[in-house]
Amino acid sequence: MSEYILETRNLSFQYPDGTKALRNINLKIEKGKKISVVGVNGSGKSTLFLNFNGVLKPTEGILLYKGKEVKHNHRSLLELRKNIGIVFQDPENQLFSASVFQEVSFGAMNLRIAEDEVRNRVNEALRNVGMYEYKDKAVHFLSYGQKKRVSIADILVMKPEIIVFDEPTSSLDPKHSKQMVKIFDELNDNGMTVILSTHDVELAYSYSDYIIVMKDGEIVKQGTPVEIFSDDNLIRDCYLEKPMVLEIFQQLCKNNKFISEKDIPRNKEELFHVLKVLG
Ligand SMILES: Nc1ncnc2c1ncn2[C@@H]1O[C@H](COP(=O)(O)OP(=O)(O)OP(=O)(O)O)[C@@H](O)[C@H]1O
Ligand SMILES: [Mg+2]
Repeated sequence: MSEYILETRNLSFQYPDGTKALRNINLKIEKGKKISVVGVNGSGKSTLFLNFNGVLKPTEGILLYKGKEVKHNHRSLLELRKNIGIVFQDPENQLFSASVFQEVSFGAMNLRIAEDEVRNRVNEALRNVGMYEYKDKAVHFLSYGQKKRVSIADILVMKPEIIVFDEPTSSLDPKHSKQMVKIFDELNDNGMTVILSTHDVELAYSYSDYIIVMKDGEIVKQGTPVEIFSDDNLIRDCYLEKPMVLEIFQQLCKNNKFISEKDIPRNKEELFHVLKVLG
C-alpha cells in the first residue's frame, strides 16, 4: 500500500467551456499532515479540491486514494466521499436544509449510524464551530460567516480521514478564524489529514507542514513554509507576500544566515522568543 493517502498523477482538468483549469498536477500528500494550497484568484485551487473528492472528474491523469486509483463509478465515489470531506468555498453552494440542526445531521444520517450517535455528533460539531445556540434557526437567515461555520460543521460531523477546506477563514472575524485554526489543529492531532486553501499568507506560513503554490493551473513549487516564503522570486512571480514574522526575522537577523530552518520563527511568540535570545 502507498504511504501517501492522496496522490495525483499528471492530473489535468478542462471545464466544458474550454478553460484549462489544471495542468499536469503531480502531488503526493502524506497522511496526518497539514497542507496549504496558495495562489492568486483563478489559479485552480477550488478546481483541484473538487477533483479531490470526485465532484469533478480529471480530463487526463488520475487520482489515487491510499494508493488505489479512484474510478468514477458509484461505489468508488461513495467510498471516496465518505473518507474525503470538502467544505466548499461558498457556503451557499453547500447548505440546503431548513434548520441548522437538520443541515448538519443530514450527512451523518447517510452514514447509517445510530440516531443517538448522530445527535451527539451534530451537537459536538455545532459546539466546535460556536453555532450550537443557533441549532433551531433557519439556515437562510444566518449571516454569511455563520453559514460558513455551519458548512464546516457539516463536514466535521462526518469524521472523514481527510478534510479539505476551501478558504475556511475568508469572511470569518478574527475570533472565529482563530477558533477554526484551533479546530484544525485538534482534528490533525487526532490523525486527520487537513488540506486547506487560503489567501492568508500568515496562516499558511504559521500553520502548515507543507505548502503547495499554484499559478495558471500548475504547481509552481511545493515545500516547507520556510522554503516557500524565503523564495523571493517565487513570491514576486506568484503575487504572494512574505509573512510579517519572517520578514521581521530576516531583517533583524541578516548576519545570522546560518540559523537552521527549525529555529526560524513561524509565529509572533516564536519571533519574540528569538529576539529575546539574540538580545
Ligand atoms: N464552472 C466553470 N466553468 C468554466 N470555467 C471555470 C469554472 N469554474 C472555474 N473556472 C475557471 O477555472 C479557473 C480556475 O478557477 P478556480 O475557481 O479553481 O480558481 P481558485 O484558485 O480557486 O480561485 P479563487 O482564489 O478566486 O477562489 C479560472 O480561470 C476560472 O475562471
Ligand atoms: Mg477558489
